[in-house]
Amino acid sequence: MKYIRSNSLKRLFSFKRRSFDSDSENSTPHAKCVEGFQETEKFQRPKWKCFSFEEIYEATNGFSSENLVGRGGFAEVYKGVLGKTGQKIAVKRITRGGREDERREKEFLMEIGTIGHVSHPNVLSLLGCCIDNGLYLVFIFSSRGSVASLLHDLNQAPLEWETRYQIAIGTAKGLHYLHKGCQRRIIHRDIKSSNVLLTQDFQPQISDFGLAKWLPSQWSHHSIAPIEGTFGHLAPEYYTHGIVDEKTDVFAFGVFLLELISGKKPVDASHQSLHSWAKTIIKEGEIERLVDPRIEEDFDIKQLHRIAFAASLCIRSSSPCRPSMIENRY
Ligand SMILES: Nc1ncnc2c1ncn2[C@@H]1O[C@H](COP(=O)(O)OP(=O)(O)O)[C@@H](O)[C@H]1O
Ligand SMILES: [Mg+2]
Repeated sequence: MKYIRSNSLKRLFSFKRRSFDSDSENSTPHAKCVEGFQETEKFQRPKWKCFSFEEIYEATNGFSSENLVGRGGFAEVYKGVLGKTGQKIAVKRITRGGREDERREKEFLMEIGTIGHVSHPNVLSLLGCCIDNGLYLVFIFSSRGSVASLLHDLNQAPLEWETRYQIAIGTAKGLHYLHKGCQRRIIHRDIKSSNVLLTQDFQPQISDFGLAKWLPSQWSHHSIAPIEGTFGHLAPEYYTHGIVDEKTDVFAFGVFLLELISGKKPVDASHQSLHSWAKTIIKEGEIERLVDPRIEEDFDIKQLHRIAFAASLCIRSSSPCRPSMIENRY
């Protein structure tokens, strides 16, 4: 089946070649880090490979419905195990959608072009892709699922405060890396709890780069149409003028923090947005009212004040008044 256009394919494989070219002995992936940025965490070099359709078909037991672990706007995600190594993987199958195919292909390439070239403990690692019989991305499997599934599934024990705090800090580090630590500026554009996955020991990893954008360093921002992303997370300058820069992600990160604190969804059943509900409470100085009733009194008040304060700055309507991620990650 000819699904992906040849130009796109050429680009895809030139991306991959460049990734290995830059893998020479003397170059580090962070050689081009912005001046003044000091990252102390250890990174691995990005490496991904092309899988055959047979490999991923076998790994997921023929994409069996028991292995389906997630479904987003344009994709289905299956759990699998690689026969050769026994490694647990997640295979993201891009669904076909008639006239939407071109857009899906663009998002597929964008996801490879961004997530395939980054490497940070708080960003999901791409293992590879497959372009036979459709479009597939292969990732390391995140055994705890997404932050959204843990926060909003009432059948599971509520996430402990300490874990929520760890998730807030780790996600801030991952986002800071995307904005300032990797070779080119990456604006994620869809930061939200279903796009932050958790490892076995609850380390958060930012995923789903389908809407991500590279920004050249000389551009202060980028104008985008149509507006994409998730209602309840969209910064005002983005949904009114289509303007995208790091502060778009900072706004969404603020909403994510509020979701972690309160356990509430970004937009509730009566269409009230979480950030406007929280703004009123923060203004009244009653921060403890923000806390998820499911964790009762079991939280650290200092940590609560810290992340509620960070959230209140991130959700400011005026984008220049929001902090950058360097100020948020501690
Ligand atoms: N690596 C993974 N490990 C475990 N679950 C995953 C993984 N990647 C995605 N998922 C699950 O699949 C869902 C949809 O994946 P996502 O990449 O966000 O797709 P979409 O672009 O369609 O939103 C996620 O919210 C998560 O529950
Ligand atoms: Mg998603």
